[in-house]
Amino acid sequence: MKDLSFSRSDFPEGFLFGAATAAYQIEGAQYGGAGHSHWDTFAATPGNVIRREDGAQACDHYHRYEEDFDILKAGGFDAYRFSTSWARVQPEGKGPANPEGLDFYDRLVDAMLARDLKPFLTLYHWELPSALADIGGWANREIPERFADFSELVMGRIGDRVSATATLNEPWCVAFLSHFLGHHAPGLRDIRATARAMHHVMLAHGLATERMRGLGHENLGIVLNFDRAIPASGSAEDRAATATQDAVFNRWFIEAITKGAYPEEALAFLGPHMPAGWEADMATINKPLDWLGVNYYTRHVVKANADDPMSPINLDAELPTTQMGWEIYPEGLEYFLTWLKDEQVGDTPLYVTENGMAWDDRVENGTVFDPERIGFIDGHYQAALRAIKAGANVKGFFYWSLLDNYEWAFGYEKRFGMVHVDFDSMVRTPKASYHALKAAMAR
Ligand code: NOJ
Repeated sequence: MKDLSFSRSDFPEGFLFGAATAAYQIEGAQYGGAGHSHWDTFAATPGNVIRREDGAQACDHYHRYEEDFDILKAGGFDAYRFSTSWARVQPEGKGPANPEGLDFYDRLVDAMLARDLKPFLTLYHWELPSALADIGGWANREIPERFADFSELVMGRIGDRVSATATLNEPWCVAFLSHFLGHHAPGLRDIRATARAMHHVMLAHGLATERMRGLGHENLGIVLNFDRAIPASGSAEDRAATATQDAVFNRWFIEAITKGAYPEEALAFLGPHMPAGWEADMATINKPLDWLGVNYYTRHVVKANADDPMSPINLDAELPTTQMGWEIYPEGLEYFLTWLKDEQVGDTPLYVTENGMAWDDRVENGTVFDPERIGFIDGHYQAALRAIKAGANVKGFFYWSLLDNYEWAFGYEKRFGMVHVDFDSMVRTPKASYHALKAAMAR
């Protein structure tokens, strides 16, 4: 596919087209007096990350953000989603700010505004300061309190100029993927730490939102990831396994906010390991959002695991996959946008805060031809359009990602960018998908 089938004019007036990134994945964590984070530790520990790659240099966005924002502007984008590194702002995770860190984000926001790009801030996208990891990280109830302090510091500096603020990115990854499956920092496989982290991330969201609202900040939300779970068969066992997976992945976080309760199917195994008195925190979490960010990539077909009901089996892919091995299933995005409206948040504004695909892109004769990505984008933006037509209040769509970047445990091998990055020379090359989106947004 060379061209996209949709135009800006197909979307509602004022719909925002954006691109997303995250601090550790692009900035270069070694610059500007940033403290160490648990991702530095995780990456340096053999066996965790391909080739033990880390975010020390990443895309060198710390020094090249003007060029990166020029590319966004030239593409005709309206908005940019970025995150602040806690360890850059507070190298010790608490106490006074590193002035260089706050100055950097101040410059960054001004550089967006100078190009008329709306800043969409995410306060926490995964790099916990090592000093906080040393005291137990997200398993420790103190972290939500420290996170509220960090939020106050950041918003005190740039809160007057951002269009929207999310507390956390993908709490499922912060808690479950990192403490139960062990795939991300801190790499634990510990159900007690998991249950605590699952609750503390939500408490952090609640406390930080309360603090920021108290200080007069507006347009506060959270970014959650959703993954369509489909039973492998109509058997009662497969349907129950799917319900368990759905509860842990898709319902835990949003229902804490919208219903003030965690789903029974998940509490059935996490309940005994929850921190004492967690029920009393639910009132802090159960507050309306100003907006909700939806990250969506794929689906999983789920089969019951007779040996271990807590760990359903995900079958091998049947549909075409991306470089990550993830099935391409745009219908899931339409499903979640509609489900969120009907069952969870009603008319609260929804943004697709991430969606995109990795592919083994190569620069040939100065260009990158990525028809697979153009097809992926087409399918998912059309799915969002269908949800909008069905009444979902979707206000914008951020492609993940602006740049090829550090894909966590997969290092630099998986390329999600609509702009190619040569990690030796740092040369940026917009891909065909960038040009296709530019043309669609101009129509
Ligand atoms: C979700 C995460 O927010 C982002 O950091 C990651 O790179 C993408 N998904 C792709 O895996």
